[in-house]
Amino acid sequence: MSHTESKILGVSRRNFIKGAAGVSALALGSRFAHAAGSDETLKVGLIGCGGRGNGALNNFIEAANIMKKKVVVTGVCDVFEGRCKNAMGVAAKVSPITAEQCFVGFNSYKDLLKTDCDYVIIATSPNFRPLHFEAAVKAGKHVFMEKPVAVDPPGARKIIEAGELAKTKGLGVVAGTQRRHQAGYQKQAAAIQDGVVGEILGGTVSWCGGALWLQRQNPNEPDAEYMVRNWVSFTEMSGDHIVEQHVHNLDVANWFLGRLPKSALGFGGRARRETGTQFDFFSLDLDYGDGVHIHSMCRQIDGTQGGVNEFFRGTEGMIYGGGKIETAKTFTTPDFPDRNPYVQEHVNLVESVQAGKPLNEAYNVATSTAVAIMGRISAYTGEYVRLTDVLENEGSKWYNLALAPTALDFEKGPVTAPEDDVIAIPGRPKG
Ligand SMILES: NC(=O)c1ccc[n+]([C@@H]2O[C@H](COP(=O)([O-])OP(=O)(O)OC[C@H]3O[C@@H](n4cnc5c(N)ncnc54)[C@H](O)[C@@H]3O)[C@@H](O)[C@H]2O)c1
Repeated sequence: MSHTESKILGVSRRNFIKGAAGVSALALGSRFAHAAGSDETLKVGLIGCGGRGNGALNNFIEAANIMKKKVVVTGVCDVFEGRCKNAMGVAAKVSPITAEQCFVGFNSYKDLLKTDCDYVIIATSPNFRPLHFEAAVKAGKHVFMEKPVAVDPPGARKIIEAGELAKTKGLGVVAGTQRRHQAGYQKQAAAIQDGVVGEILGGTVSWCGGALWLQRQNPNEPDAEYMVRNWVSFTEMSGDHIVEQHVHNLDVANWFLGRLPKSALGFGGRARRETGTQFDFFSLDLDYGDGVHIHSMCRQIDGTQGGVNEFFRGTEGMIYGGGKIETAKTFTTPDFPDRNPYVQEHVNLVESVQAGKPLNEAYNVATSTAVAIMGRISAYTGEYVRLTDVLENEGSKWYNLALAPTALDFEKGPVTAPEDDVIAIPGRPKG
């Protein structure tokens, strides 16, 4: 049995499948509850003040209101000063911050982590996540980090490792795979656990939609800044959209099946992008073992059929992710807070920390990210790729695949962007 399998099977199926409050199988027993300042005042810092960073800070504030707690923002940081100013506007709602509390540049997270926050929200592009998460855990902070959490195999493994460290330090870790905090999905996970649809035999998961933003490099603009602005077209920054968006649906498959796929075989291509290195579409066969296969597909092309969903067929019924359960059986499901999951995930983080039972979702989000990376490698190369190639097998040619420029390269000085509009060609290996 592989390390990956044994790690999953070492957790009881019930606890693995419960997710959110129940992900806690790996963390609930923690004897090291971290003293998170005063229980009544939540001190938070923000790394990455873009759309989601500001959104997550707003969600954190709303969660605090629900819990009747105060929020103090200890600082914010971003590569761009203007972005920090936007976050200052959000902070001003609860605790105005000064220019001295706004840190700018690729090293700014280090200053942010020196501030007196107990919680850190990390919402940069995914390529920086492993470095920033590890630093936050080492600094003793509870973390909310956006998905996905890596763009390459070493990054995914670093998240798992730092997640383990967080456990030993009694730190809470919640990831932005918010379906695990969404009542509709939580009820379905409980129903599956209770055998309401029997054994899952197969399914489909998809994220098909339109194009995200197109950015071109400005004259004289450093490559680093261009890549940060245009991160949704560079695999080196996002992992490609199979990792960046579709990880949500892949995570649901892993959660509902209670295990990870063993391998992927897939394909994809590029039809409309003009910048960066990403594909526009992917289609994968994920082999979960025991004859169970999940079809995964994702696309970012305007004017094409959209659909963001998960569907699973069991021996005794069918599950439509977040919605219907079709079965002849009568059943009831437990109640879960039916709030905006983008807010509920912060409620769950803080409440778990304050109860001395910190949630730790690092392993779940890292492995779902690794599954997406496995699929991307298969589509880029045309090869059959095993999850062990990404997570365990040091002899695999994919194990040490590190996309460049790396997060550390950005810190050290100027970087050189990969050539625009040059993509992987299956049959000519390049992860
Ligand atoms: N959970 C969800 O549903 C959801 C939705 C949207 C985005 N996201 C995720 O949130 C993350 C951010 O996405 P976004 O849409 O906010 O992107 P964005 O480009 O709007 O924001 C990213 C911000 O991070 C800053 N940044 C980049 N590198 C940095 C560094 N090294 N140090 C400090 N700041 C840095 C950028 O300048 C930018 O302001 C992504 O991982 C994305 O996948 C999740």
